[in-house]
Amino acid sequence: MKDRMTQLSLLNETAAACRKPAEAASVDAGLSSVLEARLEETALPKQGGAVAAADVQERMRALGAALEHHNYLYHTLDAPEIDDDAYDALYRELVALETAHPELADPHSPTRRVGGALLGGLAKKRHTRRMYGLDNVFSDDEWREFVERMRRALPEAPEAFWCDPKLDGLALEIIYENGELREALTRGDGEEGEVVTEAVRTIRTAPLRLRGPGPFPRRLEVRGEVVMYKADFAALNARRESLGQKLLANPRNAAAGALRQLDTTATRQLPLRFLAYSLGDADWAPAPACASQHELMARLQSYGFLTPPDGRLCADPAEVERYAAWVRERRPDFPMEIDGAVAKQDNLEAQEALGFTARAPRFAVAFKFPAVQARTLLRRIEIQVGRTGALTPVAVLDPVPVGGVMVSRATLHNEDEIRAKDVRVGDTVLVQRAGDVIPEVVGPVLEARPADAVPFEFPHTCPICHEKAHRAEGEAVWRCGNVSCPAVRLQAIRHFVSKAGLDIVGVGEKWVTQLVEAGRVQSPSDLFTLTPLELMQYDRMGETLAQKMTDALEEARLTATLPRLISALGIRHVGEQTARVLAAAFADLDALAAADEERLLALPDIGPEVASSILDFFDTPANKLLLERFKALGLWPRRNDEENAAVGAPRPLEGATILFTGTLSMPRGRAKQLAEAAGAVVLGSVSKKLQYLVVGDDPGGKLDKAQKLGVTVLDESAFLQLLRGDAEKAADAASHEA
Ligand code: IVH
Repeated sequence: MKDRMTQLSLLNETAAACRKPAEAASVDAGLSSVLEARLEETALPKQGGAVAAADVQERMRALGAALEHHNYLYHTLDAPEIDDDAYDALYRELVALETAHPELADPHSPTRRVGGALLGGLAKKRHTRRMYGLDNVFSDDEWREFVERMRRALPEAPEAFWCDPKLDGLALEIIYENGELREALTRGDGEEGEVVTEAVRTIRTAPLRLRGPGPFPRRLEVRGEVVMYKADFAALNARRESLGQKLLANPRNAAAGALRQLDTTATRQLPLRFLAYSLGDADWAPAPACASQHELMARLQSYGFLTPPDGRLCADPAEVERYAAWVRERRPDFPMEIDGAVAKQDNLEAQEALGFTARAPRFAVAFKFPAVQARTLLRRIEIQVGRTGALTPVAVLDPVPVGGVMVSRATLHNEDEIRAKDVRVGDTVLVQRAGDVIPEVVGPVLEARPADAVPFEFPHTCPICHEKAHRAEGEAVWRCGNVSCPAVRLQAIRHFVSKAGLDIVGVGEKWVTQLVEAGRVQSPSDLFTLTPLELMQYDRMGETLAQKMTDALEEARLTATLPRLISALGIRHVGEQTARVLAAAFADLDALAAADEERLLALPDIGPEVASSILDFFDTPANKLLLERFKALGLWPRRNDEENAAVGAPRPLEGATILFTGTLSMPRGRAKQLAEAAGAVVLGSVSKKLQYLVVGDDPGGKLDKAQKLGVTVLDESAFLQLLRGDAEKAADAASHEA
């Protein structure tokens, strides 16, 4: 996606005037340091004492501004600068201050992005200006006819068009007054929409306040689309599947359902994004008005909105045709579902003059793409066993291209779905990629059904361990309940090392599978007892790879945080978000394991189902054993580092001086943090005072200088040994290095 963006902006000189997210990021680097300084200046004294209300309010403002800024960097620019823990610390501080001083709280505080229950139904409200649909063109000829009509209607109209992909989501209007979010309306029937302000406040890419110094328009009705990215949708459906909930048909429905939730605490948990592409009514003053669509897009970006990716100003109708063909070609690569490309007259005055027909604007049109579906033969149905024991039916298909991607397997979701769709082995089926990473079977093509097509008997035993499977009341999913089922175990270990777990990049899925199949790794704790020598016994495992793998595990062991470890456990219903909530509430896994139902239910986001799943997990003997092993291995993060120091964690580098150079496999900041936590002082340059130089790839001049001065030179793995307190081994490694 990034490559395409640069490619396009090169092609497109005029649009280069628009602030692209990448450039915005560098502009924001300055802002980050201003906000950082403000946080430092406004810090309140730690220990009691009376603090003036004005100081508290200043602090709250500084926290609010910093949180909104980091929200923007994370959700809109996808370029976070601080980690979750740092964010959570700011967030918690603001919540605490707002709780203690509700009278000082800002009504637009980022903590208000939390949602709440709305009593009664959604209210309706008329749009200031009707929200029209778009006419479609299905060919370049039809596009040329559209251009002809535009020429006839307004001969002097310029012929440059702003083009962007047509997002397949839910149209929404957000109204800002003097830079502040006032109200949000769905499109409804175009004349009248539903008031969804509170749900929209929970969408992190919808600015609560417009960004930048202002001045801001008195009133600005920003229109755009609420979408769910394909990857987020897939993750959401996977979660629903594991909960035995009904699956959502596609990201569009998911977004629509989420937005219209009456209880917006549920909306908050859904990864919705708002992307802005046009305006309703605008009263620009005292801000300068925009004269063109491309200027408007740049302005919306500068106000903090996300806009459709790869928007571009096309100089003439022929370029629009090329753009539409280009978007169609790349349709599968977009992060969200798109179903076309939209071309809009760039000149806003001309837009106004062209106006609307009864149903659509005369200044804009959509190149509509066909749905990405294909027909193919369903050969057989396999049952996959997931981490939570869920048995998922998968259709094995004759390979067929769907929207540019070869598909040979597609999910059938669960027993009920197979029955409802009446899909049989031997059927010709319609397959679609609904933004799901996993394609799905839409249904059978009944005219093509052979006489011998057989209905599928859903198995009631696990295909791997052959134990009886269960289907709980009200659930759609059959589950293998055997905690030592090899399939469940393998998935649990895969999850443990995955991004949603400890994110151990150096340990590939293939190796996990091999080690589990060999019986060497039976639980996540076994991973940490692997040695390079032992790993080298396996086929295609060389010394370098074995070392890299054990280093990665060692790094994971040393740097695991409590929320990450909780999420890695793979407790049913406990994803990354819930893991953060739990980690904030409990000092370590022992404390969490000791919590009773009442204590769990008192936490935000935790309902009876989640609580009971947590209780079950810690009640299972195999899991109790797992925690014992983690503790024995020293994989035992506590709520935060200060507490670690407080409990007297060993500091093997106490008083040592250290410096890093070259590219390490872990972020430099993390390496420094580790060194400091172990008691070392990180120096800024090589001198006689320096004891250890840790070198990564491409070390540069510091290495030469250090060697001349006789400083001990370590590679990353020797550094990790040092952190473990293994000075002897580290010294050994250092002598090899030198
Ligand atoms: S511009 C006057 N740009 O598609 C209409 N609309 O089928 C100006 N849509 O209701 C709208 N992506 O909600 C525009 N990049 C895009 C769009 C887009 C999706 C929606 C819009 C409209 C619907 C028409």
